[in-house]
Amino acid sequence: MKNIPSDFQEYLAIYKQSVEQPELFWETIANDFVWRKKWDKVLTWNFSEPSVKWFEGAKFNITENCLDRHLIDKADQAAIIWEPNNPNDAHKTYTYQSLYTQVCLFANVLKNRGVVKGDRVCIYMPMVPELVIAVLACARIGAIHSVIFGGFSAQSIADRIQDAGAKIVVTADGGYRGTKDIPLKFVIDDALVQCPSIEKVIVLNRTNTPVSMIKDRDFWWHEEMEMAEEMGLTTCDPELMDAEDMLFILYTSGSTGKPKGVVHTCGGYMVYTAYTFNNVMQYKPGEKFFCTADIGWITGHSYIIYGPLANGAISMMFEGVPNFPDPGRMWDIVDKHEIDILYTAPTAIRSLMAAGNQWLDGKDLSSLKKLGSVGEPINEEAWNWYNEKIGKGKCPIVDTWWQTETGGMMMSPIAGVTPVKPGYAMFPLPGVQVLLVDEKGEEIHGNGVKGNLCIKFPWPGMLRTTYGDHERCRQTYFSTYPNLYFTGDGCLRDEDGYYRITGRVDDVLNVSGHRIGTAEVENAINMHTGVVESAIVGYPHEIKGQGIYAYVICHSTHFDEDLMRQDILQTVSRIIGAVAKPDKVQFVSGLPKTRSGKIMRRILRKIAEGDNTNLGDTSTLLDPSIVDEIVKGKY
Ligand code: WTA
Repeated sequence: MKNIPSDFQEYLAIYKQSVEQPELFWETIANDFVWRKKWDKVLTWNFSEPSVKWFEGAKFNITENCLDRHLIDKADQAAIIWEPNNPNDAHKTYTYQSLYTQVCLFANVLKNRGVVKGDRVCIYMPMVPELVIAVLACARIGAIHSVIFGGFSAQSIADRIQDAGAKIVVTADGGYRGTKDIPLKFVIDDALVQCPSIEKVIVLNRTNTPVSMIKDRDFWWHEEMEMAEEMGLTTCDPELMDAEDMLFILYTSGSTGKPKGVVHTCGGYMVYTAYTFNNVMQYKPGEKFFCTADIGWITGHSYIIYGPLANGAISMMFEGVPNFPDPGRMWDIVDKHEIDILYTAPTAIRSLMAAGNQWLDGKDLSSLKKLGSVGEPINEEAWNWYNEKIGKGKCPIVDTWWQTETGGMMMSPIAGVTPVKPGYAMFPLPGVQVLLVDEKGEEIHGNGVKGNLCIKFPWPGMLRTTYGDHERCRQTYFSTYPNLYFTGDGCLRDEDGYYRITGRVDDVLNVSGHRIGTAEVENAINMHTGVVESAIVGYPHEIKGQGIYAYVICHSTHFDEDLMRQDILQTVSRIIGAVAKPDKVQFVSGLPKTRSGKIMRRILRKIAEGDNTNLGDTSTLLDPSIVDEIVKGKY
């Protein structure tokens, strides 16, 4: 691939060119992909609508780049290696040839069941290879996939299916996660009561869980695949897509109550994920890359599926959790498969560090060459442990900062090429033009400064819209500061000019690397009949990064607090999913509000953090005495 620096000087030169001649820079990279027809124009854009188009007029299919082109020289090389939840079960390897055939078969299954270009397909599956196959099969026929994380509840799924107007669901009877069996089909059945747009459901048999299969609506994956095979449908002509046609929708939380469907398009997303993967990881052919993320989140989309496969890489995927059957599981996988590159989240690192170093005994980690971190700020202690105990001091660590909306990595060290500093995303990657602004949107120059992180020029992997509501996209990302994309993150540029993400500056929490909107959790809690009002804030949590702290006002003052707490947790699980359950619930008689009725979250945050001494000015509150009550009542 072009424009991949091999030392710091080269990075500086490439970065400079990417800013001075962005079109040329990206075109040079894009030229190495398979296009049926090249673009008419590299880029047209304005951030005011916003309207961003990369490689407009180009015709191609992303799966030809992820599969077909590797059949020439890598047909028998592994594309996906899958480790199941239970280490006693055999792992599975899909070569590029076998993955290609499975994708074509399933693409034909979808076609047989009436899916056509532009249809939305909801995928709610465990972390099994069939999930990758389903995603790529959609891309093959131009259907838009919307993958929903397996931890979401029926209500969350229904909201997402309705918003996308999905026509078909691909799911499984169940899924394994550590000691748990997740009843996926059962949850889907619950969701579908509210989803008239769904015509068909395809169900993978993963756990042999008894499920209800509705005639003419529900079909077994294996029977459908057998049928396609009997019909000889082992190839499937790729649908010719425009570079700017939609590839997928992925729902993510923001500061309002309703998750938004971030839309990525085919051409730019492919070029961006493939380039950043190759560049940041300094990927060499034959290296095994293990990304521990779930495909339900953007990291799995970009760096288990599209980025690695577009590079003909070997992508390792894992069904389980890092601490099952014991906290040595990840190291066993690295040892067994001789993993070269490990890409994981600070939460996982912290929890494995807390489990103790004995879990590393006897594990051969010498295959590791490069390490990555993603999803949340990494604290220095975890960084050092990762560096010393896992990388044995010889593996560069890339702390990659990016978002669902950015499609791929934006700021990160480049492995072995650019300098690193614990907890720092360091420098923008080539093609990424960042700046810090103050509250008024004025650029903050110089070093040793903090501000809100914005981006001033388009990059190919950026979101194009929020599904069905373009105005929301404009308002959320492009209206806070005119002509800039606002990330929602605070950022420090230190004395050396190194960047460090300091965390969200909006009402979004990052719990174990999962994005959770405070308003969403509040809405869920408020649905409980006993609740009048609630306020959610984050607080520092040793393992999760951030924990969820709920302040709740109830109708009655006489109730069983423990039972009510359980009820509230149940309600959040039912409405959103277990990921959003508060870690702490405090019952209060009121909330600190301004005279105009706005909740002063700053104060609640301080109390949740245990910092009662410096609550700032409370005199503008409607009822300042409520603060004392909350402080006293804190457990
Ligand atoms: C945070 C995940 C610090 C950040 C890829 C961002 C990070 C949000 C880092 C996006 C990092 C992600 N250092 N913070 N290396 N990476 N974040 O959409 O607050 O799930 O805005 O995408 O995670 O989360 P998302």
